[in-house]
Amino acid sequence: MSSKAMSSQARIETALEALIARVEGDGTPPGLAAAVRYAVFPGGARVRPSLCLAVAEACGDDQPGVANAAAAAVELMHCASLVHDDLPCFDDADTRRGKPSVHLTFGEPRAVLAGDALIVLAFDALAQGCATAPQRLAPLIRTLVQGVGLPRGIVSGQAWESETEVDVSLYHQMKTGALFVAATRAGAIAAGQSPAPWTALGDALGAAYQAADDLLDAVADADEGGKPTGRDVALSRPSLVASLGLRGAYEHLRGLVDQAVASIPDCAGASGLREIVQAQAVRLTPKQFSRSAA
Ligand code: IPE
Ligand code: IPE
Ligand code: MG
Ligand code: MG
Repeated sequence: MSSKAMSSQARIETALEALIARVEGDGTPPGLAAAVRYAVFPGGARVRPSLCLAVAEACGDDQPGVANAAAAAVELMHCASLVHDDLPCFDDADTRRGKPSVHLTFGEPRAVLAGDALIVLAFDALAQGCATAPQRLAPLIRTLVQGVGLPRGIVSGQAWESETEVDVSLYHQMKTGALFVAATRAGAIAAGQSPAPWTALGDALGAAYQAADDLLDAVADADEGGKPTGRDVALSRPSLVASLGLRGAYEHLRGLVDQAVASIPDCAGASGLREIVQAQAVRLTPKQFSRSAA
């Protein structure tokens, strides 16, 4: 089936499956291959790659294979960040996506290596996917690096947890926002368009997402998110609930969703994208708040 005829979800899963299948066997130690697959499938909400494809589609999606690769690369980076985030030296989390975390299942050495392998595979995904549009490869790599690396990507965000003085919004921007920005910008680049008009959407959605995650951590039970809750307080993490209170964090989340919707540039796919953002906002809001707002 051509990418145009597939749903976004099918495009993402197909691209990820092809990438993971290629690195299984042929000398990869079976335990590591299993850990890598376990870290990627079954997925969570696949929010970032969906966003990447939605922006690519809004920008014309003239090379669907490039957009698929960009979306998969973003998700592989995200999966890697989760595997490392759950390790005992970070959040020491026993569950992820409703199942035991990678290090509990396969051991810490394989969890560290699976994360490493996924990061490298993300770059390979871009290299493979850009064969038909090589001039898009360098900007895609740079965008992904900005989302994940130094000075303002996930790696920095995680490292702020080891500092004594932390600016919560900067910490969130790096830990979570940066990859959302990379997702929207990569979607535009993959479709041959300028990424600049899409930065604000990634920024606002990333902040909204982190606000929702802080709320979920504070009010939801572990079943709702498929991962442990109460970790922010237990680990003394800077959180919006700690700084604004529950109601304040919820108001903040609503403001960010409005901001995200307002930031969507004028384009053919604008109304579809607005619907996607609104639907995500509903999905993200912990049940207790959606009930009290209704
Ligand atoms: C969890 O991300 C980590 C955060 C940055 C809040 P998601 O909630 O998108 O995780 P999955 O991919 O759906 O499991
Ligand atoms: C994890 O952040 C997101 C990464 C950037 C790795 P958190 O530690 O806040 O998210 P969860 O609650 O474990 O998903
Ligand atoms: Mg963490
Ligand atoms: Mg965590």
